[in-house]
Amino acid sequence: MNQAKLFSSLILLVLLLIFGAWLVFFFQWSAPMPRTAAQAGAEAGTAASPTPLEPVFNPPALEDAPEKIRPMVMLGYKIMTETKKYAPEYVGNDMACTNCHFDGGRSKDTISLVGVGAKYPLYRGRREYTADLALRSQGCFERSMNGKAPAPDSQIMQSLLVYYQWISKGIPIYSNPPWSALAHHLDNDHKPDAAAGKTVFEDVCTRCHGDDGHGSPIAPPLWGDGAYNDGAGMNRIRTFSVFVWRFMPKSDPSLTQEQALDVAAYAHEQPRPKFTATHPNKIERVIPLDGEARQ
Ligand code: HEC
Ligand code: HEC
Repeated sequence: MNQAKLFSSLILLVLLLIFGAWLVFFFQWSAPMPRTAAQAGAEAGTAASPTPLEPVFNPPALEDAPEKIRPMVMLGYKIMTETKKYAPEYVGNDMACTNCHFDGGRSKDTISLVGVGAKYPLYRGRREYTADLALRSQGCFERSMNGKAPAPDSQIMQSLLVYYQWISKGIPIYSNPPWSALAHHLDNDHKPDAAAGKTVFEDVCTRCHGDDGHGSPIAPPLWGDGAYNDGAGMNRIRTFSVFVWRFMPKSDPSLTQEQALDVAAYAHEQPRPKFTATHPNKIERVIPLDGEARQ
């Protein structure tokens, strides 16, 4: 008798639990969908706070990219570091993007690309226009890589764009991360002297970049057929001098600013491939723009 009572109360308890669970789900599902973002915020108890954020250098690990974009992020990194292997038809020299954007641009001590995803579109003097990252990257293919520009809808370009975006995670949009972009020039009045630069080259650079500057198994070419062409940013004495003063010799930068300017002048005199334009340098302004932002 007692056992039967216990059994029926157990059944009742289980039924009650099932009903309770059903009630909870019913009300959750039938909760009205918020129409506006403000409603949704208020419901979640998080009113948007407009505090400006400072960019912080903290690129996320590639493996942590969300599953759906991870293969493209990984491929983008490989294109940056093994450019000739993954984008052979677009490379016309013996270089890889990573030779100037160390660790595929994920390093701070290089022409860093951490934050580019948040920095662009950006006004570019060369084009006299505000350009996006696909157009910017095409420039490095045609000039720094002495090659051809992949189309914006190619797998190569799309992988690079996905990669840039991921390594820019957390950087406030349109901020200008202080580590990104090279300084325009060394703030130094020294007149670059190519003859003195030859000595710097022989004393400091040859042990890695080769006696003739054409590269070696441990460092890329500085000039000659395998180097960047004369349309590249690095072909400017001011850009080259900032780069080598900040980052060369690799892992142990030690030149004075004067040495950097001198060796840049020497490099500038050496032979390298010629840039041939395949399309107009400037973007044609068909629609008049007023008050266009310049940087
Ligand atoms: C200890 C070896 C080493 C020394 C010494 C060295 N470099 Fe480099 N340099 C490298 C490496 C390695 C890279 C490519 C880095 C990478 O791919 O991660 C590089 C890249 C460069 C680049 C950009 C890529 C290119 O080839 O155009 C320039 C420019 C450059 N070095 C100039 C110089 C100059 C000028 C000197 C002498 C003042 C110098 N380096 C001394 C190892 C060195
Ligand atoms: C010979 C050196 C060199 C090589 C190789 C090179 N770049 Fe660059 N890259 C530069 C220089 C110089 C800049 C301009 C930096 C500046 O003005 O702050 C730049 C800028 C960029 C920028 C814009 C960065 C910014 O902050 O605005 C992107 C994106 C870029 N490069 C992508 C690439 C890709 C992709 C490759 C390979 C296909 C590549 N680069 C190869 C030298 C190089």
